[in-house]
Amino acid sequence: MTRILSGIQPTGGVHLGNYLGAVRYWVEDQRIGESFYCVVDLHALTIPRDPAELRQETRAMATLLLAAGLDPEACTLFVQSHVPQHTQLSWLLECTASMGELRRMTQFKDKAAKGGEEAARVGLFTYPTLMAADILLYRATHVPVGEDQRQHLELTRDLAERFNTRYGPVFTVPEATIPPPGRGARIMDLQEPTRKMSKSAESDQGMIGLFDEPKVVERKIKRAVTDTDDGPDAVRFDPDTKPGVANLLQILAAATGGDPAEVATGYRRYGELKAATAEAVIELLRPVQARYRELEADPATVDKILRAGAERAEPVAAATLARAMDAIGLLPAR
Ligand code: TYM
Repeated sequence: MTRILSGIQPTGGVHLGNYLGAVRYWVEDQRIGESFYCVVDLHALTIPRDPAELRQETRAMATLLLAAGLDPEACTLFVQSHVPQHTQLSWLLECTASMGELRRMTQFKDKAAKGGEEAARVGLFTYPTLMAADILLYRATHVPVGEDQRQHLELTRDLAERFNTRYGPVFTVPEATIPPPGRGARIMDLQEPTRKMSKSAESDQGMIGLFDEPKVVERKIKRAVTDTDDGPDAVRFDPDTKPGVANLLQILAAATGGDPAEVATGYRRYGELKAATAEAVIELLRPVQARYRELEADPATVDKILRAGAERAEPVAAATLARAMDAIGLLPAR
């Protein structure tokens, strides 16, 4: 049976890349088999976070996922720290992974490089084993993520296979489901279109936030970096030589459900392309923002959904953890 699991970090900086690369696929596929979606608050602790803000952003992220269309009747939506088995399995996987393997993770290298590796939190280093635990606990067959998570998924597969070989067949080896290139897999920064759109970018001018108002979306897209080749027929989908234009085409195609190369044939000048992209993004975000405002007014309902989600998730997680603990040779408590 298909079983889907994916996760997202709680951060107020949730952006169009998260939405087009991951969340909209979660919404589309939530009724295929069984699906679990998790707000990964423990992963957020790998960098400094204000406690009150983290708490507020965890609920806000769950609210946003509901606003985007996750249906608690169809899927299990929960908060990572509400299911204690995640950190427990993570330890077993830390004792399965090697230092060298974790050191090769490009996200660790990038993030640790910012403040210096000596100061980086140990949790930032072991982050991928916690992510592997998130996935393996639910015996997920498919993990819908953006391109930037590919390496973490490969590590998860390696750890699952290694554990199964050493101790017996406990884990399902999951597959990453990454959108095809040009279909939202990697939305780029509008100001620096050779870098992925990210909440940690220095300026927010290259990032479209899911809560950005129409005027802000319009301004950011209007100012998006393209290239100087703006003559008739300059609108082409060519990510290598025209990364800025290709990114706008990818966004427009993803927002309207088309193919970026085909979408390109409908436009000649950059101005027209930018106007159409801005309009499509505004229309895409409008219902999500409106629904968010409704749900935000009723935090008790969101909390209730999260409690019910954790209650559904925990027995599944507990069963896998018990098998893993037994296989590795831990003496049962009773
Ligand atoms: P996070 O919170 O950084 O991002 C959530 C999802 O958004 C995707 N994404 C993008 N897709 C396209 N273009 C972009 N510019 C872009 N930026 C982000 C990410 O690929 C991701 O799918 N480690 C994960 C969270 C996690 C997780 C898990 C995911 C924890 N446990 C288990 C899957 C399964 C992360 O930090 O994603």
